[in-house]
Amino acid sequence: MTSQFSKKGEAWSARFSEPVSDLVKRYTASVFFDKRLALFDIEGSLAHADMLAAQGIIGAQDLADIQRGMTQIRGEIERGEFDWQLDLEDVHLNIEARLTSLIGDAGKRLHTGRSRNDQVATDIRLWLRSEIDQIGALLGNLRRALLDLAAQHSATILPGFTHLQVAQPVTFGHHLLAYVEMFSRDAERMVDLRRRVNRLPLGAAALAGTSYPIDRERVAKTLGFDEVCSNSLDAVSDRDFAIEFCAAAALVMTHVSRFSEELVLWMSPRVGFIDLADRFCTGSSIMPQKKNPDVPELARGKTGRVNGHLIALLTLMKGQPLAYNKDNQEDKEPLFDTVDTVVDTLRIFADMVPGISVRAEAMRNAALQGFSTATDLADYLVKKGLPFRDAHEAVAHAVRICSDRGIDLADLSLAELQAFSPLVTDDVFGFLTLEGSVASRNHIGGTAPAQVERAIAAARAKLPPQ
Ligand code: ARG
Repeated sequence: MTSQFSKKGEAWSARFSEPVSDLVKRYTASVFFDKRLALFDIEGSLAHADMLAAQGIIGAQDLADIQRGMTQIRGEIERGEFDWQLDLEDVHLNIEARLTSLIGDAGKRLHTGRSRNDQVATDIRLWLRSEIDQIGALLGNLRRALLDLAAQHSATILPGFTHLQVAQPVTFGHHLLAYVEMFSRDAERMVDLRRRVNRLPLGAAALAGTSYPIDRERVAKTLGFDEVCSNSLDAVSDRDFAIEFCAAAALVMTHVSRFSEELVLWMSPRVGFIDLADRFCTGSSIMPQKKNPDVPELARGKTGRVNGHLIALLTLMKGQPLAYNKDNQEDKEPLFDTVDTVVDTLRIFADMVPGISVRAEAMRNAALQGFSTATDLADYLVKKGLPFRDAHEAVAHAVRICSDRGIDLADLSLAELQAFSPLVTDDVFGFLTLEGSVASRNHIGGTAPAQVERAIAAARAKLPPQ
């Protein structure tokens, strides 16, 4: 391949007296992972060339040649025909060398007024911006799936837990809505951090800006950036936007992981609240009875690697002096893997949630055990005039007796209940039922079926268009 680069192949080899060893070449090269940025690299180059021509820094014919060459290169990449070369180190030099081999001198003029430092920062931002938009849509799909399931179970009762001990009855729809809240906040975070991703580094050149009469605003507009990065040293070295994204991604995975933990628990035969569709589970090679919830378990496990990538990027940045350092080449693999993990996980969960079958009877039976309406009995006595602390004491006493006898509060007779407090009358049984308990929590954010329905409608209104 002919190239603008010296016969040794490197863009800078006139400065060096010996070639780098193969090991060093492999160690320093990034092309085998950063080629993923190729189409964004071309987009950025075209915007840069357009600006150079508009400012009279290159000629109209150069621009036309660059556009023609880049169109061909884009096609080669899309068809998988592009010949990526390790010797050319990274995506930027590979594309530039190919351009020059196709169009000659105009290709050599493309790099006027820019550096790979501002180029790579631009490419990552363009790429990440599109991934953020995809993740926003996927978070919407997962919320939609959870809302559809919640709508079927606005009145299905299961025990709510604190300390993994039965606490109070809740509706399953309400429980699912807790996750909808988490994933809505995740989507908000993506929208918010996108603003800081969507700023243009190009024009910072290597670190100090450039002496050519460039028009950064024009490039920003062409590429759809909201603003330009306002300090050249910061522009080439800032990776806050990537770290921020990884932090938000780690929270997405944390929420998925909490949900996964519940799915695994609920699917345990000892609990039996749900079943997952077979296509999300696997069997055991030795125990024929097994159906294992592999997908939620793996998602819980993959949360570890995403958390790890966040720490990797924070650690990558912490000791770097201004401005660009080669350390930053190490930002890509953690970032790429974070995106891939989050995207696959969200896709698979949106697909899995509609396949959750709910065993409402098992949920209800579990709520009937463990004195989940004890608080309702205490509240009943308070409404009859007893101070709350005294009511708490009276009900604790009743729970202890029931526990010894292996029965529930609702199994006590009226006379037995009256022994704990003379304020009890025969209307008490309406308060000891699971349905009465959940229906009474009828306020914004409460578990009553009527509130769940309202909350579902409100959450649907916040979904992105499908
Ligand atoms: N491959 C490099 C990276 O990913 C591009 C920037 C290289 N700049 C440099 N001065 N060596 O960061």
